[in-house]
Amino acid sequence: MRPLSKRMLAVKPSPTIVMNSRAAALAREGKPVISFAVGEPDFATPKPIVERAIEGLRAGHTKYGAAGGGPDLRGAISAKLKNENKLEFAPEQIVVGIGAKEILFHLMLALINEGDEVIIPAPYWVSYADQVIAAGGKPIVLPLPEGFPETGFDVELIELHATSRTVAILLNSPNNPTGYTFSETELKDLGKLLKKKDWWIISDEIYEYHSFERPHHSILNFFPELKDRFFYVNGFSKSFAMTGWRVGYVAGPKEPIGIVRSLQSHSSTCLPGFIEDAAIVAIQGGKFLVVQELSELNTRRKLAIKEISKISGLKVGAPHGAFYLFCDVRSKTQDSMKFCEGLLLEKHVVTVPGEAFGAPGFFRMSYAVSDKKLIDGIQRIKEFFESKVV
Ligand SMILES: Cc1ncc(COP(=O)(O)O)c(C=O)c1O
Repeated sequence: MRPLSKRMLAVKPSPTIVMNSRAAALAREGKPVISFAVGEPDFATPKPIVERAIEGLRAGHTKYGAAGGGPDLRGAISAKLKNENKLEFAPEQIVVGIGAKEILFHLMLALINEGDEVIIPAPYWVSYADQVIAAGGKPIVLPLPEGFPETGFDVELIELHATSRTVAILLNSPNNPTGYTFSETELKDLGKLLKKKDWWIISDEIYEYHSFERPHHSILNFFPELKDRFFYVNGFSKSFAMTGWRVGYVAGPKEPIGIVRSLQSHSSTCLPGFIEDAAIVAIQGGKFLVVQELSELNTRRKLAIKEISKISGLKVGAPHGAFYLFCDVRSKTQDSMKFCEGLLLEKHVVTVPGEAFGAPGFFRMSYAVSDKKLIDGIQRIKEFFESKVV
């Protein structure tokens, strides 16, 4: 066999896949599996969005569309950014793709040259580092801030890890896996630092509707002068429970945005027309379409925190938002992969080990599940945690 691409061989599949397939096997054996592993809300896509997709299908919106999104959808996103986020991006500065994941992938390809370094604060969403590697770059994963999980973010770590090869920084607030949301003060300190650098700033704001404890802001709200190198990334998966619809987008400076669009024209080509129709209904309806669901998630967040805090020795940080708790099991073990495997085999509870997020010694659990599952599952975690030295 001829050698395979060295760069792609360095891209590792997500460790969550292993856990998920084991969980599926246990469920098939009839075991009472509770999964906290999923990164999606458990409610249905709001009806008006679904209805619009069906109408679009019936109207024959099933052909190729425009690469990077049609003008109506991009126009609606531009209006959303202006009204909800107080950010000005013209429709031609916006590209829509097959989920924020594809958008981020193409963005890395557009921005990174061989050996360029990209700063990624840990804990981070699983795909960032591998996407940087796939684009030929080097992920520079910042260590956990001192005092983590109580301390969610440390601006000073950025300066310590910056080099002459740094080209970009990835920001994610509210954060997956911790739920941590930047405070205004942190964003201002961060902005002061970034003003002195010439890096691209990639801001993944996919959980912006899930900012339960702190108001959500973009760094661009405080530092409009960063606009020429700032990318706002968002998607419909989390906000509107549309994970399977695959719609995400980026707004940013025209030239790199043009590359992202052209990459899509050579890969997935476009979004299906009927999905674009439905996405317009979603973006125009905004938070209004999901108020009830968001309030329910917030109630569950409080319930999850209350239940998990009954486990002595297990800490959680500050889950201000998203729909995850990131639990610290370091008082028992650094090997969270083994911890999560044991929890699955003995108690049939599926979680995601911290190794997947650059933070061994932790696990992530989603609380976007029913109250009953939350209470039952956390009780099982309690029994496992308190009885074990892994
Ligand atoms: C922080 C973050 N960014 C991006 C994504 C990708 O979302 P999608 O591709 O479904 O739009 C996810 C999904 O889990 C995420 O958690």
